[in-house]
Parts: sequence; C-alpha cells; structure tokens
Amino acid sequence: MKKKIVVLTGAGISAESGISTFRDSNGLWENHDIMEVASIEGYHRNPSLVQDFYNKRRRQLLEVEPNLAHHFLKDLENYFDVTIITQNVDDLHERANSSKIIHLHGELRKARSEYNETVVVDWSNDINIGDFAEDGYQLRPHIVWFGEMVPMMETAIDEVLQADILIVIGTSLQVYPAASLVDYTKNNAPVIYVDPTELNNNPSIIQIQKKATEAINDLKNILSDYSVE
Ligand code: OAD
Repeated sequence: MKKKIVVLTGAGISAESGISTFRDSNGLWENHDIMEVASIEGYHRNPSLVQDFYNKRRRQLLEVEPNLAHHFLKDLENYFDVTIITQNVDDLHERANSSKIIHLHGELRKARSEYNETVVVDWSNDINIGDFAEDGYQLRPHIVWFGEMVPMMETAIDEVLQADILIVIGTSLQVYPAASLVDYTKNNAPVIYVDPTELNNNPSIIQIQKKATEAINDLKNILSDYSVE
C-alpha cells in the first residue's frame, strides 16, 4: 500500500509562478490593509473595494501557470497517496492535475451567495455589485475571511491525523487555525518544512531552507527512504 503524504501549502508555493505572497516584503499585506480587504467586517464596510481586490486576483490567474513544485506534487502520486491541503485561493494545484485538493481558505474561481455559504458557483470573471446567486442574494468571493469559520478544517485535521508524512511548503504558519495542522501529526510521522525562511524553535521538523522549486531534489532524496513499506 502506498504511504500517505499530506502536503500543506501556502502562498510561497505559487510565488515562483508570479503570485505575490502576503507577508514577505512587498507582499499583499504590505500594500493593502488586511482588515479592509480580507475580513467580513471590511466587506460589510466597503463591498466594492473588496470585490475589486479579489477581481484583480482572479484576473491575475489568467496570466500565471503552475510551476515545477506544483507539478512535482502531482508526480508524487505515482509513489504515494497524496492529499494537498492548501491555504491558497489560486487554482494552480488543480491546473497541475493533483487529485485530492482541500482548499482551507476558499477558491478565487468560485463565487457564493452573501447570505448562504453553501450556494456556490464556478466563476471566472469579475464579480460585480448586482451579480446575484440563485437564491437572489449578491455574489461575493468564495473566500474565507478573517472573522469567519474555516469549514474545511475538520476534514483537513482528519487527513493530517492519518498522514505518514507531512510536508509543509511556502507558508509562514502565522494564520490559525491552518497553522495548527502541524500539531495533529502522528507521533512518529516526519514533518518536512520547505521555505527560504527558517522556522524557529522546531528541532523536530526537517527543514529545507530553499524556494519550493529548488527544494524538489532534496525532497526526492528524503522521500526515497519512505516510499516502500
Ligand atoms: P505568507 O505570505 O504569510 O507566507 C509565505 C511564505 O512563503 C513565507 O514563509 C515565505 O518565506 C515563503 N516563500 C516565499 N517565496 C517562496 C518560494 N519561492 N518557495 C517557498 N516558499 C516561499 O503566506 P501564507 O502562509 O500562505 O489568508 O498565508 C496564510 C494566509 O494568510 C493566506 O491563506 C491568506 C493570508 O491572510 C486569507 O486571506 C484568509
């Protein structure tokens, strides 16, 4: 039986595709007020500003492609049972054809009713004020904002609990509850952290201090020890 790998990804895995991260210098949160554009209160205060922010992000998806790291995670399925839990709202894991993808913070290519979070539609264009869901309410981005529940968290925890190996790629692990997922691994399950920035105070975590695409060979070397029972 294939061993189970769970991969938790963040903005860093898409950085080399040309999508800005949030907290690096010149990242999105340096140029935008996080509580204005990514919180439910901000949306209630100024829906147009928030729609505009996500419309720009959605348009940018048309200009970017998955990179070698996204493709590597797809290829890993030849040797492991791979589940991706991503904090990213882009669709680059989908476009690299990964089979099992859980989006913790929602998806740019979907829109939902302002009133009912389960009324969700595929949506690739701008969302304009006056675009309605089938329940008659305004459409908003299908994004989990600060101040909102993370509906996929339970599913994600279940995956991590069963993982033989957890790989974490390109996330600062600053946002909860997503960051807490690393605490759910089985006792003996290795945790591998790929990020150019060092994660402090974590002697039990194997760190590859490189960009995602540059860490692929290191990952292959480490994983070759685990691929067979
Ligand atoms: P952050 O911007 O907080 O962290 C990005 C991480 O990627 C940092 O640790 C960088 O060092 C690393 N990084 C940068 N370039 C990289 C590369 N080429 N390869 C690998 N790593 C690289 O982004 P997230 O941790 O994803 O949520 O942020 C978590 C959440 O905060 C996001 O999902 C978003 C944001 O607010 C919502 O908006 C709800």
